[in-house]
Amino acid sequence: MNVLNNISEVKSILTDLRAKNLSIGFVPTMGALHQGHISLVEKAIRENDVVVVSIFVNPTQFNDKTDLKNYPRTPEKDIKLLEDSGIHYIFMPSEQEIYPEPDTRIFEFGQLDKVMEGAHRPGHFNGVAQVVSKLFDIVKPHRAYFGQKDFQQLAIIRQMVRLLDLKIEIISCPIVREKDGLAMSSRNLLLEPEVRKSAPLIYKTLSDAQKKVGELMVNDLIVWVERNINKDPNLSVEYFSLANSQNLQPVNNWTDSDSIIGCIAVRAGKIRLIDNVYFK
Ligand code: PAF
Repeated sequence: MNVLNNISEVKSILTDLRAKNLSIGFVPTMGALHQGHISLVEKAIRENDVVVVSIFVNPTQFNDKTDLKNYPRTPEKDIKLLEDSGIHYIFMPSEQEIYPEPDTRIFEFGQLDKVMEGAHRPGHFNGVAQVVSKLFDIVKPHRAYFGQKDFQQLAIIRQMVRLLDLKIEIISCPIVREKDGLAMSSRNLLLEPEVRKSAPLIYKTLSDAQKKVGELMVNDLIVWVERNINKDPNLSVEYFSLANSQNLQPVNNWTDSDSIIGCIAVRAGKIRLIDNVYFK
């Protein structure tokens, strides 16, 4: 496994491999890797000849500068973990390498980024699209892997690939959970011990809510979920949305869509956690 820092080096190595008809799988990450990332890496290894993982904490997707400053960074541990996983290249660029000058591109996602994370984190998805489009242009993968925990991010990236007419297959991978149900996230590292004990209530509530679909109307279920989580003094729901899983617009009735996703963001102490489950 090689650790690369320069764009030109990555481009040149991967151009040669592509010319040999080898398929390239790509897993973009911001580091602080956990088993969720490793599940993406393992799938990428099974499905491609060469696997590249990028580690880059992208400043343009952080609308909150304190969040950027506090974002966990564990580079040595990440490199070790990836070495053991069997990938071929890590791309770990500096900020200067990715953004030699400010990226002023604005992406148009229609209604897709006007709800949920997009509404609560202004500019977040534009920043995600900026960095992912740059990384895609550098790596030019055949397939790229993303976790379903960031459900809206996946929809945005699929839309970006369509907008830019890229020939990249976007592959989504299921959420990986801790034994107590908490969705794995790099941010879990930042939870204070007492808050960490409360955090499994998020998934527990979503799972219990799934069983109430026939019993409660959409709006009543939203209220029930919010109340159940807010009962814990360490947790506070920022939003819970029941939405059409294709266009992410909120539904009012269970019959409004064939496929309904419940997406939640919760303040857990000082940390913001997200999760989602299908309701239909
Ligand atoms: O999901 C993430 O970790 C990030 O948003 C991504 C896709 C690596 C872009 O910085």
